[in-house]
Amino acid sequence: MKSMQFNTRTHTCAELQAGNIDEHVVLNGWIDNRRDLGGVIFIDLRDRYGITQVVFEPSFNQAAHEIGGNLRNEFVVSIEGNVRRRPEGTDNDSIPTGKVDVMVDKVIILNKALTPPFQIKDGIDVHEEIRLKYRYLDLRRNEMQNNIILRHKMYQSVRNFFNENSFLEIETPVLMKSTPEGARDFLVPSRIHKGKFYALPQSPQTYKQLLMVSGFDRYFQIVKCFRDEDLRADRQPEFTQIDVEMSFIDQENIFSLVEGLMGKLFTDILDRKLESPIPRLTFDEAMEKYGSDKPDLRFEFQMSTLNEIFGNSEFRLFQETVQSNGIITGLVAQGCGDYTRNQLDVLTEFAKKLGAGGLIWMRVTESSLDAPIAKFLSEEEKQNLIFKLSAKSGDLLFILTGPKMKTLSIMGQLRLEMARRLSLIKDDANPSLLWVTDFPLFEWDEETRRYYAMHHPFTSPRFEDIDLLDTEPGKVKARAYDLVLNGNEIAGGSIRIHDSGLQSKMFNTLGISEEEAETKFGFLMNAFKYGAPPHGGIAFGFDRLAMLFAGEDSIREVIAFPKTSSGTSLMDDSPSNVSDDQLKELHIRLK
Ligand code: AMO
Repeated sequence: MKSMQFNTRTHTCAELQAGNIDEHVVLNGWIDNRRDLGGVIFIDLRDRYGITQVVFEPSFNQAAHEIGGNLRNEFVVSIEGNVRRRPEGTDNDSIPTGKVDVMVDKVIILNKALTPPFQIKDGIDVHEEIRLKYRYLDLRRNEMQNNIILRHKMYQSVRNFFNENSFLEIETPVLMKSTPEGARDFLVPSRIHKGKFYALPQSPQTYKQLLMVSGFDRYFQIVKCFRDEDLRADRQPEFTQIDVEMSFIDQENIFSLVEGLMGKLFTDILDRKLESPIPRLTFDEAMEKYGSDKPDLRFEFQMSTLNEIFGNSEFRLFQETVQSNGIITGLVAQGCGDYTRNQLDVLTEFAKKLGAGGLIWMRVTESSLDAPIAKFLSEEEKQNLIFKLSAKSGDLLFILTGPKMKTLSIMGQLRLEMARRLSLIKDDANPSLLWVTDFPLFEWDEETRRYYAMHHPFTSPRFEDIDLLDTEPGKVKARAYDLVLNGNEIAGGSIRIHDSGLQSKMFNTLGISEEEAETKFGFLMNAFKYGAPPHGGIAFGFDRLAMLFAGEDSIREVIAFPKTSSGTSLMDDSPSNVSDDQLKELHIRLK
């Protein structure tokens, strides 16, 4: 072990400059790259700060040169030597240390390394599974280090912002009561209490509301949340929220707080000025114009509702749609009038796969419309359609009909597909932030034939809609809002119900009985009887925000140790089997 004695570094691998020439220095790091030019060996030494070239020359130090010959990529070494000006013509202007190198007179191999399964460099073409299995090596790569550093900066920026605005960071339990919030809970069996379970929080929602009852009127937390749901590129089973709650406020206070936070993050992380105020759309507007409750507004390209034009149509499909309270929605693809039958069939298939009955298309000609359904429309309808959609000769029109939300959403996806085909999304477009407001309070589920809370059951209805709770729950709008960035939902929140009477009414509409409400949420309802202030809040998907700031397409790229899309960790192989003894202690028998 004596050979492992080494001196701590005098500099990082990104520090040495012309001003350090002739100094004797110690550097510690990994071998990034090694070039043996017959006699002289050049090594790029790497640490998280950067790279410094070190040189082994037999005439300078024979012993060091001999060890230098044995070094391989990813070996961990400590070197000592003299900083010198690089020989004329060998400067590397792409790195800050590129004007100097270190003539090595002492080298210690601190650890050897196997050949890594992929190169430790940017832009590698390796299957993600291999990267995840060897995540500790993947994280050595510059791109990943930058993402992790960006994430760190975001934590600091967020904490500073809330601290400066009188918010308190308060931790809440990770082992809690199972309370249905939308997704499925992860459960943790109790050893001491046979047959009982804790749940991992889907979010600290109930706790932050209790903290309001306690008088901590401004709370925030950067917190892990757990949801057992189907995963996608923007969803992980455990993910991080910036969780916020405030008392004695209304929506406008939340909006201005969040604009402040986003402004700070834009400045600190993106070095950009946030354009404020952040534009707003109601849920209904967003659905009708963009077919999504998280529209990407980096490009316009709006849909139009055509029910008025076809209100008295002879065309059966339009007639039936209008009569059954469905929607007729249209979209113009500029200059796509020359799409071939084949291309149109592909798009029709696209819409059908999403659940549309079919896709109506029409080519706009000099004088009118050319389409299979044209013969069913009156000349007036055709002209009104062209006018309403501001369509021009050479354009292509799409029309979808059917139940409102479903049809708008399919058209929204066709809108995104056409935007891709027409290259409407420019990489350098300004980031587009948007508030979506006035969400419906409830969502109707056809399968179970009951209403579900669209956000969560603690969300307050708009005052003016309270009476509708008994009569037409589907029409009640919530005091709920989402923040959208480039078509991604990055935050969601609401003003809460703080009155136990209104809360009971809400449970009632949700079909939750008094006993059920008592067992599931009794603790919260009870707390509200002891003086609950009006309150509301919001939670950000921190990983999604980091992903977008880093310009990545998947949140896995900004999480140090993420799970795969099937929820496994390839590195430590979890979830995994446990011993019979462990199960026995937990009073669990596997079927
Ligand atoms: P919500 O469920 O909308 O609200 O979650 C808030 C934000 O968290 C992010 N998010 C996720 N990110 C990664 N993986 C997931 N599985 C995942 N699920 C959600 C989204 C989302 O906008 N308690 C409420 C907030 C409140 O009302 O204050 C809540 O959790 O970006």
